[in-house]
Amino acid sequence: MNDLQFKRHRRLRVNESMRSLVRETHLQKEDLIYPVFVVEEENVKKEIPSMPGIYQLSLDYLVEEMKEVESLGIKSVLLFGVPNEKDEQGTGAFHDHGIVQEAIRVIKKEVPSLMVIADTCLCEYTSHGHCGVLENGYVQNDPSLNLLVDTAISQAKAGADIIAPSNMMDGFVAAIRKGLDEAGFENIPIMSYAVKYASAFYGPFRDAAQSTPQEGDRKAYQMDPANRLEAFREADSDVEEGADFLIVKPALSYLDIMREIRDRHPVPVVAYNVSGEYSLVKGAAQNGWVDEKAIVLEKLISMKRAGADLIMTYFAKDVAKWLDE
Ligand code: PBG
Repeated sequence: MNDLQFKRHRRLRVNESMRSLVRETHLQKEDLIYPVFVVEEENVKKEIPSMPGIYQLSLDYLVEEMKEVESLGIKSVLLFGVPNEKDEQGTGAFHDHGIVQEAIRVIKKEVPSLMVIADTCLCEYTSHGHCGVLENGYVQNDPSLNLLVDTAISQAKAGADIIAPSNMMDGFVAAIRKGLDEAGFENIPIMSYAVKYASAFYGPFRDAAQSTPQEGDRKAYQMDPANRLEAFREADSDVEEGADFLIVKPALSYLDIMREIRDRHPVPVVAYNVSGEYSLVKGAAQNGWVDEKAIVLEKLISMKRAGADLIMTYFAKDVAKWLDE
């Protein structure tokens, strides 16, 4: 035909059947974890202004939502509580009848097959909005650990299937593992927010969870976006301390880190496709500037290609519907 020597890569792209035959990465409903915000007031279904399509839900609406999630084929949810009252220590986080504990009980009773992952942090419950005990403007590490352990145990008692500590204190995995074991919960896994950057992409979440720090920022405990080796140190120590899953958060700007964490640790790795990543797409889609479905599916497949086994995403319900089309 021709004398030029070259390869015909396009042979494997000629039509959709051929393309699907050679596709390397797949997105499935089982990969999806849907985050939910539960409020303590009654009769609330309130859309979060910066996150169109995502709501703060009271327990009654929560049950409806969870039934829908289950019927769409999503297996797991991630729970955040928004309490009525906050205090210095965030005691609402570990109250036996706190909002998250009640939400876990309701879901386990009404929709028992759903896997309930409890986000374990104090920032939604503290009056100052920081993720631990604040003294002289500094979030104290070790005193915060005890409160986190109490929170994890109360969530496990309420029926949580997985504990997901997100507050970035040193030693939180070791402390929570020990606490859970001593309380008889040796079979409850820890999904650690091991690699969590101090990110502007959390902005809309802080509206949703009402957890914006009243003063300062989280840079003295969350990681510097400029750092890569620091991510390995964090992940290594969490695995040594007993983490069963590792979360990398946010997802899209950190896919390089995701790949390296995947290659380093033989544990399930989770991408958190965070609130700001959601809002950016939603805003553009609402203006008709991008094709929402195509953009979202491309984003999520990139996370899987980068090594994520599971994806926490506010798009989970939409994706589950699209995967059925
Ligand atoms: C709690 C927590 C945060 C998110 C998950 N858990 C917020 C933060 O660290 O400020 C962010 C999730 C999102 O942006 O979707 N510490």
